[in-house]
Amino acid sequence: MCLLVSVLVLASSCSWVGWNWDTPMTTVLPKSDFGKTTHEIFMLISWWTLGIFIAVEACLLYVCWRYRDQPGAPIPKQVHGHTALEVGWTIAFAVILLIFAIPTIRVVFKTQEAPAATALRVEVFGKQWWWEFRYPQFKITTANELHLPKGQTATFLLNAPDVIHSFWMPQLGGKRDVVPHRINHLTLTPEVAGEYPGQCAEYCGMSHANMRFRVVVHEPADFESWVKAQQAPPVEPTDPLAQQGKTIFSQSACVGCHTITGISAGHIGPDLTHFASRKRFAGSLMESTPENLVKWIENPEHMKPGALMPNLGMTGEQSKALAAYLLSLK
Ligand code: CUA
Repeated sequence: MCLLVSVLVLASSCSWVGWNWDTPMTTVLPKSDFGKTTHEIFMLISWWTLGIFIAVEACLLYVCWRYRDQPGAPIPKQVHGHTALEVGWTIAFAVILLIFAIPTIRVVFKTQEAPAATALRVEVFGKQWWWEFRYPQFKITTANELHLPKGQTATFLLNAPDVIHSFWMPQLGGKRDVVPHRINHLTLTPEVAGEYPGQCAEYCGMSHANMRFRVVVHEPADFESWVKAQQAPPVEPTDPLAQQGKTIFSQSACVGCHTITGISAGHIGPDLTHFASRKRFAGSLMESTPENLVKWIENPEHMKPGALMPNLGMTGEQSKALAAYLLSLK
Protein backbone atom coordinates (compact mmCIF):
# COMPACT_ATOMS: atom_id res chain seq x y z
CA MET A 1 0.00 0.00 0.00
CA CYS A 2 2.82 2.37 0.98
CA LEU A 3 4.52 1.58 -2.33
CA LEU A 4 1.33 2.30 -4.27
CA VAL A 5 0.83 5.63 -2.49
CA SER A 6 4.44 6.70 -3.12
CA VAL A 7 4.18 5.72 -6.80
CA LEU A 8 0.97 7.78 -7.14
CA VAL A 9 2.51 10.79 -5.38
CA LEU A 10 5.64 10.58 -7.57
CA ALA A 11 3.63 10.13 -10.75
CA SER A 12 1.40 13.09 -9.97
CA SER A 13 4.38 15.34 -9.27
CA CYS A 14 6.30 14.29 -12.42
CA SER A 15 4.45 16.85 -14.50
CA TRP A 16 6.08 19.70 -12.69
CA VAL A 17 9.60 18.40 -12.18
CA GLY A 18 12.04 20.81 -13.77
CA TRP A 19 9.39 22.78 -15.64
CA ASN A 20 8.25 25.45 -13.25
CA TRP A 21 5.63 26.75 -15.65
CA ASP A 22 2.08 27.82 -15.03
CA THR A 23 0.65 25.04 -17.14
CA PRO A 24 1.31 21.43 -16.23
CA MET A 25 2.43 18.71 -18.62
CA THR A 26 -0.92 17.01 -18.90
CA THR A 27 -3.37 15.68 -21.45
CA VAL A 28 -6.43 16.18 -19.25
CA LEU A 29 -6.62 19.95 -19.70
CA PRO A 30 -6.86 20.11 -23.51
CA LYS A 31 -6.41 23.49 -25.22
CA SER A 32 -6.99 22.59 -28.88
CA ASP A 33 -9.61 20.83 -31.01
CA PHE A 34 -7.30 17.81 -31.34
CA GLY A 35 -6.66 17.69 -27.60
CA LYS A 36 -10.38 17.95 -26.82
CA THR A 37 -11.36 15.21 -29.26
CA THR A 38 -8.86 12.72 -27.90
CA HIS A 39 -9.66 13.70 -24.32
CA GLU A 40 -13.38 13.15 -24.92
CA ILE A 41 -12.76 9.66 -26.21
CA PHE A 42 -10.46 8.94 -23.28
CA MET A 43 -13.19 10.02 -20.84
CA LEU A 44 -15.89 8.07 -22.70
CA ILE A 45 -13.88 4.85 -22.54
CA SER A 46 -12.92 5.52 -18.91
CA TRP A 47 -16.59 5.84 -17.86
CA TRP A 48 -17.62 2.75 -19.82
CA THR A 49 -14.81 0.66 -18.38
CA LEU A 50 -15.64 1.96 -14.89
CA GLY A 51 -19.22 0.68 -15.40
CA ILE A 52 -17.92 -2.73 -16.55
CA PHE A 53 -15.53 -2.87 -13.60
CA ILE A 54 -18.35 -2.16 -11.12
CA ALA A 55 -20.61 -4.79 -12.74
CA VAL A 56 -17.88 -7.48 -12.74
CA GLU A 57 -16.80 -6.73 -9.16
CA ALA A 58 -20.44 -6.81 -8.00
CA CYS A 59 -20.91 -10.28 -9.54
CA LEU A 60 -17.66 -11.47 -7.95
CA LEU A 61 -18.59 -10.17 -4.50
CA TYR A 62 -22.09 -11.67 -4.79
CA VAL A 63 -20.71 -15.11 -5.70
CA CYS A 64 -18.13 -14.95 -2.88
CA TRP A 65 -20.87 -14.09 -0.42
CA ARG A 66 -23.50 -16.49 -1.80
CA TYR A 67 -21.22 -19.56 -1.84
CA ARG A 68 -19.12 -18.78 1.23
CA ASP A 69 -18.18 -21.67 3.50
CA GLN A 70 -20.74 -22.19 6.29
CA PRO A 71 -20.91 -24.91 8.94
CA GLY A 72 -23.14 -27.70 7.66
CA ALA A 73 -23.76 -26.07 4.26
CA PRO A 74 -23.99 -28.55 1.35
CA ILE A 75 -21.42 -28.40 -1.47
CA PRO A 76 -22.92 -26.23 -4.27
CA LYS A 77 -23.77 -27.86 -7.57
CA GLN A 78 -20.48 -28.51 -9.46
CA VAL A 79 -20.56 -27.15 -13.02
CA HIS A 80 -17.98 -27.99 -15.72
CA GLY A 81 -18.50 -25.78 -18.79
CA HIS A 82 -21.64 -23.95 -19.81
CA THR A 83 -21.90 -23.49 -23.58
CA ALA A 84 -24.62 -20.84 -23.55
CA LEU A 85 -22.80 -18.75 -20.91
CA GLU A 86 -19.44 -18.99 -22.70
CA VAL A 87 -20.90 -18.09 -26.09
CA GLY A 88 -22.87 -15.31 -24.38
CA TRP A 89 -19.92 -13.57 -22.78
CA THR A 90 -17.74 -13.96 -25.87
CA ILE A 91 -20.40 -12.14 -27.88
CA ALA A 92 -20.94 -9.57 -25.12
CA PHE A 93 -17.23 -8.69 -25.02
CA ALA A 94 -17.04 -8.53 -28.81
CA VAL A 95 -19.95 -6.07 -28.79
CA ILE A 96 -18.29 -3.97 -26.06
CA LEU A 97 -15.05 -3.82 -28.11
CA LEU A 98 -17.05 -2.83 -31.17
CA ILE A 99 -18.74 -0.03 -29.20
CA PHE A 100 -15.26 1.25 -28.22
CA ALA A 101 -13.93 0.85 -31.75
CA ILE A 102 -16.56 2.95 -33.57
CA PRO A 103 -15.81 6.36 -31.97
CA THR A 104 -12.08 5.53 -31.74
CA ILE A 105 -11.76 4.81 -35.47
CA ARG A 106 -13.79 7.94 -36.23
CA VAL A 107 -11.32 10.04 -34.21
CA VAL A 108 -8.31 8.31 -35.80
CA PHE A 109 -9.55 9.30 -39.27
CA LYS A 110 -10.62 12.78 -38.16
CA THR A 111 -7.15 13.53 -36.76
CA GLN A 112 -5.49 12.38 -40.02
CA GLU A 113 -7.45 14.69 -42.31
CA ALA A 114 -5.50 16.80 -44.80
CA PRO A 115 -5.06 20.39 -43.56
CA ALA A 116 -6.94 23.29 -45.11
CA ALA A 117 -5.01 25.38 -47.64
CA THR A 118 -5.18 28.32 -45.21
CA ALA A 119 -3.45 26.38 -42.43
CA LEU A 120 -0.21 27.79 -41.05
CA ARG A 121 2.58 25.43 -42.12
CA VAL A 122 5.37 24.77 -39.66
CA GLU A 123 8.29 22.51 -40.51
CA VAL A 124 9.43 20.68 -37.40
CA PHE A 125 12.90 19.15 -37.22
CA GLY A 126 13.56 16.80 -34.32
CA LYS A 127 17.32 16.60 -33.77
CA GLN A 128 19.49 15.04 -31.08
CA TRP A 129 18.50 16.80 -28.74
CA TRP A 130 16.61 19.94 -29.63
CA TRP A 131 13.82 21.13 -31.89
CA GLU A 132 13.98 23.41 -34.88
CA PHE A 133 10.84 25.15 -36.16
CA ARG A 134 10.72 26.75 -39.61
CA TYR A 135 7.88 28.88 -40.95
CA PRO A 136 8.43 28.81 -44.73
CA GLN A 137 5.79 31.46 -45.51
CA PHE A 138 7.46 33.94 -43.13
CA LYS A 139 11.07 32.77 -43.70
CA ILE A 140 11.58 32.38 -39.96
CA THR A 141 13.64 29.74 -38.18
CA THR A 142 13.61 29.30 -34.45
CA ALA A 143 14.64 26.65 -31.93
CA ASN A 144 12.97 25.01 -28.98
CA GLU A 145 10.17 27.58 -29.03
CA LEU A 146 7.09 27.10 -31.17
CA HIS A 147 4.84 30.13 -31.64
CA LEU A 148 1.28 29.75 -32.90
CA PRO A 149 -1.70 32.06 -33.35
CA LYS A 150 -4.87 31.22 -31.43
CA GLY A 151 -7.80 30.07 -33.55
CA GLN A 152 -5.80 29.35 -36.71
CA THR A 153 -5.28 25.79 -37.86
CA ALA A 154 -1.61 24.85 -37.90
CA THR A 155 -0.12 21.90 -39.70
CA PHE A 156 3.22 20.48 -38.66
CA LEU A 157 5.47 18.70 -41.13
CA LEU A 158 7.59 16.43 -39.00
CA ASN A 159 11.17 15.76 -40.14
CA ALA A 160 13.91 13.78 -38.40
CA PRO A 161 17.41 14.34 -39.80
CA ASP A 162 18.98 11.80 -37.42
CA VAL A 163 16.96 9.24 -35.42
CA ILE A 164 13.29 8.66 -34.52
CA HIS A 165 11.80 11.25 -32.18
CA SER A 166 8.21 11.95 -31.18
CA PHE A 167 6.60 15.39 -31.28
CA TRP A 168 4.35 15.87 -28.28
CA MET A 169 2.51 18.88 -26.87
CA PRO A 170 0.38 17.25 -24.15
CA GLN A 171 -2.18 20.05 -23.77
CA LEU A 172 -2.55 20.65 -27.50
CA GLY A 173 -2.90 17.02 -28.46
CA GLY A 174 -0.99 14.87 -30.83
CA LYS A 175 2.17 12.95 -30.07
CA ARG A 176 3.29 11.79 -33.44
CA ASP A 177 6.47 9.99 -34.40
CA VAL A 178 9.12 11.98 -36.21
CA VAL A 179 10.78 9.44 -38.49
CA PRO A 180 13.89 9.77 -40.70
CA HIS A 181 13.29 9.62 -44.47
CA ARG A 182 9.60 10.44 -44.29
CA ILE A 183 7.45 13.42 -43.35
CA ASN A 184 4.64 12.84 -40.89
CA HIS A 185 1.86 15.38 -40.50
CA LEU A 186 -0.02 16.70 -37.52
CA THR A 187 -2.81 19.27 -37.78
CA LEU A 188 -4.59 21.08 -34.97
CA THR A 189 -6.11 24.40 -33.98
CA PRO A 190 -4.99 25.94 -30.67
CA GLU A 191 -7.99 27.42 -28.86
CA VAL A 192 -6.56 29.07 -25.76
CA ALA A 193 -3.64 31.52 -25.65
CA GLY A 194 -0.90 30.58 -23.22
CA GLU A 195 2.39 28.75 -22.78
CA TYR A 196 2.53 25.01 -22.89
CA PRO A 197 5.28 22.46 -22.44
CA GLY A 198 6.37 20.13 -25.24
CA GLN A 199 8.62 17.10 -25.06
CA CYS A 200 10.19 14.45 -27.23
CA ALA A 201 8.24 11.30 -26.41
CA GLU A 202 10.36 8.63 -28.10
CA TYR A 203 13.63 7.47 -26.60
CA CYS A 204 16.26 8.92 -28.93
CA GLY A 205 19.55 8.69 -27.08
CA MET A 206 21.43 10.04 -24.11
CA SER A 207 19.65 13.39 -23.73
CA HIS A 208 16.18 12.27 -24.79
CA ALA A 209 14.76 13.60 -21.52
CA ASN A 210 16.41 16.97 -22.25
CA MET A 211 14.71 17.34 -25.62
CA ARG A 212 11.95 19.74 -24.65
CA PHE A 213 10.33 22.79 -26.14
CA ARG A 214 7.94 25.57 -25.25
CA VAL A 215 4.76 26.27 -27.16
CA VAL A 216 3.49 29.84 -27.05
CA VAL A 217 -0.05 30.34 -28.33
CA HIS A 218 -0.61 34.04 -29.04
CA GLU A 219 -3.62 36.20 -29.71
CA PRO A 220 -3.52 36.75 -33.52
CA ALA A 221 -2.23 40.36 -33.26
CA ASP A 222 0.55 39.30 -30.88
CA PHE A 223 1.53 36.52 -33.25
CA GLU A 224 1.92 39.06 -36.05
CA SER A 225 4.18 41.18 -33.84
CA TRP A 226 6.25 38.11 -33.03
CA VAL A 227 6.61 37.30 -36.75
CA LYS A 228 7.73 40.88 -37.52
CA ALA A 229 10.28 40.82 -34.70
CA GLN A 230 11.69 37.48 -35.91
CA GLN A 231 11.94 38.71 -39.50
CA ALA A 232 13.96 41.78 -38.48
CA PRO A 233 17.75 41.63 -38.83
CA PRO A 234 19.69 41.02 -35.61
CA VAL A 235 20.16 43.99 -33.32
CA GLU A 236 23.63 45.56 -33.31
CA PRO A 237 25.06 45.32 -29.76
CA THR A 238 25.80 48.62 -28.01
CA ASP A 239 27.26 47.29 -24.77
CA PRO A 240 31.10 46.94 -25.04
CA LEU A 241 31.08 43.43 -23.54
CA ALA A 242 28.46 42.31 -26.06
CA GLN A 243 30.43 43.93 -28.90
CA GLN A 244 33.47 41.97 -27.77
CA GLY A 245 31.25 38.84 -27.76
CA LYS A 246 30.21 39.52 -31.34
CA THR A 247 33.87 39.65 -32.42
CA ILE A 248 34.62 36.39 -30.57
CA PHE A 249 31.58 34.72 -32.16
CA SER A 250 32.45 35.76 -35.69
CA GLN A 251 36.12 34.70 -35.33
CA SER A 252 35.55 31.33 -33.64
CA ALA A 253 34.22 27.90 -34.58
CA CYS A 254 30.70 29.07 -33.51
CA VAL A 255 30.09 30.25 -37.08
CA GLY A 256 30.49 26.72 -38.44
CA CYS A 257 27.38 25.46 -36.65
CA HIS A 258 25.12 28.45 -35.96
CA THR A 259 23.35 31.02 -38.10
CA ILE A 260 23.14 34.66 -37.09
CA THR A 261 21.74 36.54 -40.08
CA GLY A 262 24.47 38.64 -41.70
CA ILE A 263 27.25 37.00 -39.69
CA SER A 264 27.22 33.25 -40.15
CA ALA A 265 25.31 30.47 -41.87
CA GLY A 266 25.95 27.23 -39.95
CA HIS A 267 23.13 24.71 -39.78
CA ILE A 268 24.22 22.05 -37.29
CA GLY A 269 23.08 23.95 -34.19
CA PRO A 270 20.15 26.31 -33.55
CA ASP A 271 19.70 29.60 -35.42
CA LEU A 272 20.74 32.30 -32.95
CA THR A 273 19.57 35.41 -34.85
CA HIS A 274 16.96 36.19 -32.19
CA PHE A 275 18.36 34.06 -29.40
CA ALA A 276 17.40 36.50 -26.63
CA SER A 277 13.73 36.44 -27.67
CA ARG A 278 13.56 32.87 -26.33
CA LYS A 279 13.08 32.23 -22.65
CA ARG A 280 15.02 28.99 -22.59
CA PHE A 281 17.81 27.31 -24.54
CA ALA A 282 19.58 23.96 -25.06
CA GLY A 283 16.47 21.87 -25.71
CA SER A 284 14.54 24.22 -23.40
CA LEU A 285 16.62 22.81 -20.57
CA MET A 286 17.83 26.08 -19.05
CA GLU A 287 16.55 29.60 -18.67
CA SER A 288 18.37 32.10 -20.89
CA THR A 289 20.39 33.84 -18.18
CA PRO A 290 24.04 35.01 -18.41
CA GLU A 291 25.05 32.49 -15.71
CA ASN A 292 23.47 29.53 -17.50
CA LEU A 293 24.94 30.60 -20.84
CA VAL A 294 28.44 30.84 -19.38
CA LYS A 295 28.07 27.37 -17.85
CA TRP A 296 26.78 26.02 -21.17
CA ILE A 297 29.54 27.56 -23.30
CA GLU A 298 32.26 26.38 -20.91
CA ASN A 299 30.96 22.81 -20.48
CA PRO A 300 28.06 21.78 -22.73
CA GLU A 301 28.65 18.07 -22.15
CA HIS A 302 28.08 18.51 -18.41
CA MET A 303 24.84 20.46 -18.93
CA LYS A 304 23.38 18.20 -21.63
CA PRO A 305 25.10 14.79 -21.88
CA GLY A 306 25.88 13.79 -25.45
CA ALA A 307 25.28 17.30 -26.84
CA LEU A 308 26.95 17.97 -30.20
CA MET A 309 28.00 21.44 -29.00
CA PRO A 310 31.75 21.14 -28.33
CA ASN A 311 33.71 22.72 -25.53
CA LEU A 312 35.64 25.38 -27.41
CA GLY A 313 37.90 26.12 -24.44
CA MET A 314 36.52 29.62 -23.94
CA THR A 315 37.91 31.34 -20.86
CA GLY A 316 35.75 33.10 -18.25
CA GLU A 317 36.03 36.52 -19.96
CA GLN A 318 35.35 35.15 -23.43
CA SER A 319 32.30 33.14 -22.40
CA LYS A 320 30.90 36.13 -20.47
CA ALA A 321 31.31 38.31 -23.56
CA LEU A 322 29.64 35.66 -25.75
CA ALA A 323 26.75 35.36 -23.29
CA ALA A 324 26.32 39.16 -23.29
CA TYR A 325 26.26 39.17 -27.11
CA LEU A 326 23.74 36.33 -27.37
CA LEU A 327 21.48 37.99 -24.80
CA SER A 328 21.58 41.21 -26.82
CA LEU A 329 20.01 39.42 -29.81
CA LYS A 330 16.40 40.23 -28.95
CU1 CUA B 1 14.12 12.99 -29.35
CU2 CUA B 1 13.61 11.55 -27.54
